[in-house]
Amino acid sequence: MILSPSILSADFSKLGECVKKTEDAGAKWLHIDVMDGIFVPNISFGACVYKSIREQSNLFFDVHLMITEPQRYIEDFVKAGADGITIHVEATKNVKECIELIRSHNVKVGLALNPETDLEEILEYIPYVDMILVMSVHPGYGGQSYIEDVNDKIKKLREIVGEDFNIEVDGGVNISNIKKVVELGANVIVAGSAVFNGDIEKSTRALIEECDG
Ligand code: DX5
Ligand code: ZN
Repeated sequence: MILSPSILSADFSKLGECVKKTEDAGAKWLHIDVMDGIFVPNISFGACVYKSIREQSNLFFDVHLMITEPQRYIEDFVKAGADGITIHVEATKNVKECIELIRSHNVKVGLALNPETDLEEILEYIPYVDMILVMSVHPGYGGQSYIEDVNDKIKKLREIVGEDFNIEVDGGVNISNIKKVVELGANVIVAGSAVFNGDIEKSTRALIEECDG
């Protein structure tokens, strides 16, 4: 299991310090939630925020774009230090074009789908991406409750893609349900409030140990 702590719930006045704590405790990825106030009701931050911590961190920067027509900003997000960029299937009519654009910059490509979006909507793109991100809350805010209805989607997706493919689950995952989500077939887990609302190092270790023993 790969834990990808989401900085959306971090204290931005000491972002570098918060990120270092989760890295020291064993996290390998960092989840970076970019929101534009159009695709989702909330606005978070842009590329300059994570650019400022890029040099201090060796984590895989897992950038989740909750923005409409993401092709407009791919280059900026790559330049700021993204290792992987995930776009939403609902965010543009030109999904294939966006995937190719991200790929052309030599970073990993992810495709996300909202809780109410059918798996069928993303199937044709699976051969062209490195990861599918299954949203387990309605995107826009940290700290929401996990939507159990997505469990079947995760299970089905794992059956379709086989073992060697990243399935990331994002939203409402914490110490009490992380193991179950991994058992359903996810291998990359986003956790925002479960990592950053409390003792960051302790929470990071606990989440990793809960799955990896
Ligand atoms: C929601 C974001 C999530 C969020 C997860 O739109 O995509 O990554 O930060 O936060 P928690 O883990 O608190 O649900
Ligand atoms: Zn996210």
